Amino acid sequence: MAPRIFLKLILALLGVLGITLLAVDFLAARGTRAGYIEDTRQGLAEKCRMLALHSPDELVRSCHLLAQAAGARLTVVAPDGRVLADSEADPLRMENHRLRPELVQAWSGATGSSVRHSATLNRDLLYVAVAANGNAIRLARPLDRINANVLSIRRRVVASTAFAFLPFLALAALFSRYFSRRLGAIIEYTGKLAAGNFHARLQTEGRDELGILSDRLNETGEKLEKVILELQREQSEMEKLERVRKDFVINVSHELRTPLASIQGYTDTLLDGALHDPDHNVRFLTIIKQNAERLGRLTADLLTLSRIELKTQKFQFAGYYVNSLLRQNVESMQPLADKKRVSIVIEPAPPDTEVFCDSEAVHQILSNLMDNALKYTPEGGKIYVGAVLIDDPRNERVEIHVRDTGIGIPEQELPRLFERFYRVDKARSRELGGTGLGLAIVKHLARAQGGEVRVESVLNQGSTFFFTLPVHDLGLLETGAVQSELTTP
Ligand SMILES: Nc1ncnc2c1ncn2[C@@H]1O[C@H](COP(=O)(O)OP(=O)(O)OP(=O)(O)O)[C@@H](O)[C@H]1O
Ligand SMILES: [Mg+2]
Repeated sequence: MAPRIFLKLILALLGVLGITLLAVDFLAARGTRAGYIEDTRQGLAEKCRMLALHSPDELVRSCHLLAQAAGARLTVVAPDGRVLADSEADPLRMENHRLRPELVQAWSGATGSSVRHSATLNRDLLYVAVAANGNAIRLARPLDRINANVLSIRRRVVASTAFAFLPFLALAALFSRYFSRRLGAIIEYTGKLAAGNFHARLQTEGRDELGILSDRLNETGEKLEKVILELQREQSEMEKLERVRKDFVINVSHELRTPLASIQGYTDTLLDGALHDPDHNVRFLTIIKQNAERLGRLTADLLTLSRIELKTQKFQFAGYYVNSLLRQNVESMQPLADKKRVSIVIEPAPPDTEVFCDSEAVHQILSNLMDNALKYTPEGGKIYVGAVLIDDPRNERVEIHVRDTGIGIPEQELPRLFERFYRVDKARSRELGGTGLGLAIVKHLARAQGGEVRVESVLNQGSTFFFTLPVHDLGLLETGAVQSELTTP
């Protein structure tokens, strides 16, 4: 592509050079030829006037000699047009010259001249004639020499003009090659953009128009790259959201179907006669009750999650002593712990450590975590519930933990633990009446209060769940910064 402009430029220049040479040649030819002819005409006219000083007889007699001396053909013509003498032809054989234009002018008293083809000598001649003692003297000189001189001058003028053009041509070739190369790079770059390679960049040189064009193209490329990346990010987020939504719907339907199927099955069995079977009816009704309770828990958990996500959950933030929050929760879980023969130890924060939170939400977080700890800690185990003040001047917060000496969680399961319906051992969790929403609720409730969650666990040794709460009012309600968790699983 690039060499074409280069070629066009050179061709255009050669065209200009050709036209210039033609014009120079034409003007040089015309000017020099006219000048030469005029000079020769004046020279011959002077010689004619000198010859006119000779007598008519002498002119006829010494025609050859005089012609030689004048360096031209000499013709003597009588007033009636008869040729009396000619230095190069036989006058008797020559036709009447009465109407020759130079002779007509000479007889009218002027110096006659004309440029014509001589039929006698078969060549172009310049004729000059004057009247002399009744006759007319005419000198003629062939134009061949003039033409040869003019030709040599033309050649020299044309050659020097062409030579003068050479540096110009070389310079033009250099420039056009330079710009062709830069244009080539720009064309290559736009090709890359057209092919969707927005990461490519053009190397810019100079601040001329091509340099500015390159800069602008680079800017366009950068913007396109950003837009494409943003679109790709949005698309992958949409896909992720869609996957999360689908998984959620599948999980919810599955979780609802299991207890419903059980309720339906045992109800049918009871209706089919088992109602009157004292050995089974109470057991079947107990199973139906357990499943109905499970459905109740599931719908309550789903409602809690959706309220947080849709920001319809009403939080009542206030400052609380964190140790008293811990104590209240431990007290409410104590009967369950006693039943399981698991002891609970409080690891208090420094006295009067405050947290800014919704006490109901913190209560739910702690009871979910302690419920898990109790579920997954065998008899004789211990649960530690405590808080630590994290004195970060930019983000002063309290980190609350619930540590157990239970079964622990395999490391590879930890990253997905807070996802909805995610359970390490599905069968075991279901057996224990779990729905797999407890930790998702913990995460969303903690975030809604400006906190974060994390977990540490060693298999067969125990797990520790942490969540943070701000010490001061972060203005979450006023600024609406309680983040929507819709996009996270
Ligand atoms: N303290 C723990 N020790 C060991 N595993 C745990 C502990 N806490 C949670 N897990 C694992 O994480 C999974 C998810 O916990 P989560 O609280 O979300 O659900 P769940 O307890 O099974 O059911 P739910 O809390 O909804 O009744 C559990 O099924 C369990 O496999
Ligand atoms: Mg749980």
